[in-house]
Amino acid sequence: MNICDLAPAYIRAISPYQPGKPISELAREMGMDEQSIIKLASNENPLGTSPMALNAMSKALGEVSLYPDGSGFELKTALSERYGVTSDQIVLGNGSNDVLELAARVFLKPGASTVYSQHAFAVYPLVTKAVGGIGISVPARNYGHDLDGMLDAVAPETRVVFIANPNNPTGTLLPADDVLRFLERVSPDVLVVLDEAYNEYLPPALKGDSIAWLKQFPNLLITRTFSKAYGMAGVRVGFGLAHPQVAGLMNRVRQPFNVNNIGLAGAVAALQDEEFVKRSYALNQAGMLQIVTGLRQMGIEYIPSYGNFLSFRVPGDVKAVNESLLRQGVIVRPISIYEMPEHLRVTVGLEPENEKFLKSLAIALETAGGAAADTIPEMTARVSQVAAGGSA
Ligand SMILES: Cc1ncc(COP(=O)(O)O)c(C=O)c1O
Repeated sequence: MNICDLAPAYIRAISPYQPGKPISELAREMGMDEQSIIKLASNENPLGTSPMALNAMSKALGEVSLYPDGSGFELKTALSERYGVTSDQIVLGNGSNDVLELAARVFLKPGASTVYSQHAFAVYPLVTKAVGGIGISVPARNYGHDLDGMLDAVAPETRVVFIANPNNPTGTLLPADDVLRFLERVSPDVLVVLDEAYNEYLPPALKGDSIAWLKQFPNLLITRTFSKAYGMAGVRVGFGLAHPQVAGLMNRVRQPFNVNNIGLAGAVAALQDEEFVKRSYALNQAGMLQIVTGLRQMGIEYIPSYGNFLSFRVPGDVKAVNESLLRQGVIVRPISIYEMPEHLRVTVGLEPENEKFLKSLAIALETAGGAAADTIPEMTARVSQVAAGGSA
């Protein structure tokens, strides 16, 4: 008997999470110079990290021989001031993935279920299955969450509902009122995890006051992250906001030092650098317009996105187009595991990166035979015009 055969069947059945291809890996595989490669595959911030956060993290390097503050006192104080919650409502995580996993570990047991949308973030089924839970995937409506369908799918064994707003990889956004109505209708015995990893990329008019809902709904957990607009994906800091009793349970099961001292110091400083988040937001708006304009010029169908990424339908052989993009040094994300085998997802980058992506895509479609051959020369010309700042 192999020791691995003794692992629970629900663990053995898990397919591993597939991250975006690292630049170093593509460089090795293709014998390319890392400098010539752009990665638009993991929804990272193309501006990098706030200089204030970088400075604080450099200083924290001098303390890595010490364990971090396991209570995260300073970061929780900063977050409670920013969001008007008490420190005992906060759960810090090694990225918001950690917080999602803590929610599953606290509220699920083998046989309990979670409800999430088709095409929703891949970590929801993963954390469900890791504790022997059953994931109920509700068919999406126009690539977005069907909240009525999700409400109907809640079963007596359901303990957690995951809502990604905006969702990754579709970029769809639910109106705040719809989420509020869902909270009013769902059983208070079900924890509603409202994953707002991309909240900072939303135009102010579209941001719901979800944090205010915490007062009304003790079964609400909001998750946020420093990985996206704050540009700190590599140091892994996220957090959850919830009722103190929910946060208390989650804090009991987390690792005592789950957030490292570099991440803690960086996050405190990043919160103060509002200018950096503003710049990240503005760059994303402009880059999204650039990409959308280019795709439209090429006649490529895409799902309008509220995040820092966009999924588009490849007219033709997705695998061949993706391989061509890789050969041209452009890493995007295939999303067949999201039941979207005809789409690729691109992260909004810097202006020249978006330009390179659009040009490379036009070439990829041509060489991979993805688009009708007679439209290609015209398409390539139009993309060059858009990329050069011409009219859309
Ligand atoms: C919807 C969504 N939630 C959560 C996360 C987790 O991010 P992190 O663990 O870096 O905070 C991601 C990352 O891609 C995401 O897309």
